[in-house]
Amino acid sequence: MCGIVGYVGPRPSQDILLAGLARLEYRGYDSAGIAVIDDAGDLGMRKKAGKLAVLRDSLADAALPDGSTGIGHTRWATHGGPTDVNAHPHLADDGKLAVIHNGIIENFSALRAELADAGVTFLSETDTEVAAALLGQEYRRTGDLATAFQAVVNRLEGAFTLLAMHQDQPGLVVGARRNSPLVIGLGEGENFLGSDVAAFVEHTRNALAIGQDQIVAITPSAVTVTDFEGNAVEAQPFEVSWDAAAAEKGGWSSFMAKEVAEQPEAVANTIRGRVQEGQVIIPELEGLDSLFLGIDRVIITACGTASYAALVGKYAIEQWARVPVDVELAHEFRYRDPVIGDDTLVISISQSGETMDTLMAVKYARERGARTLSVCNTQGATIPRESDAVVYTHAGPEVAVASTKAFSAQITALLLLGLHMGRVRGTHVDATAEVAELQSLPDKVSWVLKNEQEHVSQLAGWMADTRSVLFLGRHVGYPIALEGALKLKEISYIHAEGFAAGELKHGPIALIEAGQPVFVLVPSPRHSALIHSKVVSNIQEIRARGARVIVVAEEGDAAVLPFADEVIRIPLAGALFEPLLAVVPLQIFAMALATAKGLDVDQPRNLAKSVTVE
Ligand code: M6R
Repeated sequence: MCGIVGYVGPRPSQDILLAGLARLEYRGYDSAGIAVIDDAGDLGMRKKAGKLAVLRDSLADAALPDGSTGIGHTRWATHGGPTDVNAHPHLADDGKLAVIHNGIIENFSALRAELADAGVTFLSETDTEVAAALLGQEYRRTGDLATAFQAVVNRLEGAFTLLAMHQDQPGLVVGARRNSPLVIGLGEGENFLGSDVAAFVEHTRNALAIGQDQIVAITPSAVTVTDFEGNAVEAQPFEVSWDAAAAEKGGWSSFMAKEVAEQPEAVANTIRGRVQEGQVIIPELEGLDSLFLGIDRVIITACGTASYAALVGKYAIEQWARVPVDVELAHEFRYRDPVIGDDTLVISISQSGETMDTLMAVKYARERGARTLSVCNTQGATIPRESDAVVYTHAGPEVAVASTKAFSAQITALLLLGLHMGRVRGTHVDATAEVAELQSLPDKVSWVLKNEQEHVSQLAGWMADTRSVLFLGRHVGYPIALEGALKLKEISYIHAEGFAAGELKHGPIALIEAGQPVFVLVPSPRHSALIHSKVVSNIQEIRARGARVIVVAEEGDAAVLPFADEVIRIPLAGALFEPLLAVVPLQIFAMALATAKGLDVDQPRNLAKSVTVE
């Protein structure tokens, strides 16, 4: 949610800002704007509701004088609708100062009332304009942007990334963060700020991560970081491991299509370097065995798709590490009084590493003394830095709002983690068979893509008018049923529900009527003849009531044939590894159906890629 970019250097900044904002588009937004201190020392600003193209058209119609200090913003509306006026930047000090913001300033009403009493008139409905007005007041009092900025951030409550510049101090952009993302890009004679590295990765891969409640000031030649009291702090350097091309669409019709196709690579990259002599040893966790020993419980917390990966992780960790695992939606976790303490390990899962609900759950867990480990795809993100340890997924940048390759990489990382924990805890010391399974996965995912893409896409094309689709699964098929339904909902806007197949007769079977499409994820009979036969019975029950049954089953499973309208095949795999194969046709189905309906699969309505507000 909201994209932020800042630039100071020798080059004209407008193209840099617009390109940075384009790379942050995936975060989700409904208006965009830039402010630039031009070469004459005047601050110019343009902002528009709608997509970046609207802003670009406006700039093409009436140019904004260019200059080498600038800030840019894409806004996902919270306080006030997506209008030109509510878009960022917001100005103060008679238009000489510009501010952009991501997050929610929780005490904005009180501050707004105070400023209104002091005679400030507000143009917008946003909380951001309050921060801008406060900064204007402080600037007039102190005459120095950095000093004024420090005073203002100390008055704000809530979550925020804030960037500001003043025309009387060209060549300087200041920023601050509290529970919202901000990273620094280090160039040669130029520096950048961004919500994430995508904002500047085409210019530099040298980055600095800044911590909570810290302020950064960038000039073309210097970067200074302090805490909110003004004490110097050291920012953590890191090198961005992917290049700009990785976040390009290339020749693909959509980012989602590209990312679905990249899954074999995402799985392989997540395994790479973590297997030694047939055992799983995650190098980032070396020396951290104490995280896994003496625990009596694991809680995995996450939101959305990541929470479904967590459900698969539960099965794997319980099986191999023999410790009870609960999965908790992050936004439910801290609003009760969960039983956690120093013998609890809380694992968070987040592609972005910035999901506010998940971040708050991690912070809460730490406050309560729990050990924390994050599974994350984004370097420099907040959640890993708030955790005791991190296992990175190496899926590369995921741009489409609908998560696909990150999901596969999360499951892979959790399988690795389960085996690592099993070895450390002495509950599963020989992982030779599982390692062989893991290493065969990339080829098997490729097999599904190669052999089922056309079939599933055709099926989706025929079903473009469908109004509702149900998904059933048992064991690790259940989270995949949930994920199949979520994918369909979010990009094709079709009603979809995932159910544990065993729940069917406890209610959902009432939904079955003639022609109702139902995907059924059939586990291999080789793993458990019992579970397999139960699912086959479920298929018969819905078939008898007129459902149109689409089965996802392993190659050679003939038992499903008499009862299925369509059979989608996946290769043979171990029970805990099947989800990585079974999810692929469901992703393809959702994507093809949304495409058949003429929808934008990369940026579905109302959704943001990173949900950085609660
Ligand atoms: O960045 P995160 O993994 O923390 O994001 C969590 C969810 O918001 C995310 O998985 C969401 O459900 C996706 N849009 C699903 O495709």
